[in-house]
Amino acid sequence: MDFYEIETKYGAGVYAKQQLSIVRGQGASLFDAEGNEYLDCSSGHGVANLGHAHPKVAAAIAEQASTLVTLFESYPNDKRAALMQKLASLVPGLERVFFCNSGTEAVEAALKFARLSTGRTNIVATMRAFHGRTFGALSATFNKKYREGFEPLVPGFSHVPYNKIEALENAVTDETAAVILEVIQGEGGVYPADADYLRAARKICDERGTLLIVDEIQSGFGRTGKMFAVQHFDMTPDLLCCAKSLAGGVPIGAVLIGEKVQNLTPGVHGSTFGGNPLSCAAALAALAAIEEEDLAGQAAEKGTYMMEKLRQIESPLIREVRGMGLMVGIELKQKVAPYLKALQEKRVIALNAGMTVLRLLPPLVITYEQIDRLVSALEDVLKSEN
Ligand SMILES: Cc1ncc(COP(=O)(O)O)c(C=O)c1O
Repeated sequence: MDFYEIETKYGAGVYAKQQLSIVRGQGASLFDAEGNEYLDCSSGHGVANLGHAHPKVAAAIAEQASTLVTLFESYPNDKRAALMQKLASLVPGLERVFFCNSGTEAVEAALKFARLSTGRTNIVATMRAFHGRTFGALSATFNKKYREGFEPLVPGFSHVPYNKIEALENAVTDETAAVILEVIQGEGGVYPADADYLRAARKICDERGTLLIVDEIQSGFGRTGKMFAVQHFDMTPDLLCCAKSLAGGVPIGAVLIGEKVQNLTPGVHGSTFGGNPLSCAAALAALAAIEEEDLAGQAAEKGTYMMEKLRQIESPLIREVRGMGLMVGIELKQKVAPYLKALQEKRVIALNAGMTVLRLLPPLVITYEQIDRLVSALEDVLKSEN
């Protein structure tokens, strides 16, 4: 049996498996067992911002693996303390950190902290939002394809149209614990927020004593051209959720916490693996590399180049190219699945975001030559009958 057959037989069955097994990565390239190279424009769903097998992250993991892998957060540790200090320095006003192990756990923690801090229960989320698959995060997620079969979800959640100030104005009351939103919606179709909308969200939350949670799980760590997408706008949330690329691919989640968030006392929340020295060491190395290599600056420049090139493709199938930095969506007038398959046949791995949006989340270390390769493969694929 090959890997595909084994995983299809023994896996839980909750993933649509590709007939493509990958055994190695390097930079923006992935390789199958025969050594064939594929251009990775997915980064494992936005994780590999630093590229695959980054030498500094690999060295930090190896060193920490033979030093100390696990330590419950009750016991302070050199790597965890250093990572807390580093994360607390990234966004002025967000100077406490909660560690967990994934995006959905970061959202779960932020939702719990908001309820605990305000003593209120209601959460206002946005239409098209994706925040994860555990019950709290799933309740904030909009698309029924993720929710169906799991109801009843957590009570108190409502959804308003994204980028519509008036709808938010009407939905947030003095019983709302938090508003949760993505600065650029990822899974929902790559829709950036308007600056006015984010400013209004901050103002509405301030007026009603509501906390503002921003989900930067996909948009964080240089992806959009700044360390966090929210830094493009003059706005600081009360809780910022991150995960994915924070530790260069090692599982980690974190919530950055602002001053207004109260009542976080020993025992109210926790995580066995949260803040483990292995993921903290990997994250320290990843953050250092993001800064040393100016990956955010690279994402801004390469993103502009990529979107210009994509907009030059003459195809009646393209409705719109949009995005921020290297978080790019190409909205087609047709279903995107056959084009993703055709791209894979040309050895380019990309993603969808809903039925009609082709999403590109390449490692930020992708080269200009690789971007040209992607654009020309896409041009070919859109020209042929699919
Ligand atoms: C914006 C956003 N929030 C939350 C999540 C959930 O993260 P995880 O899959 O690590 O639980 C994702 C994952 O795609 C995401 O894109």
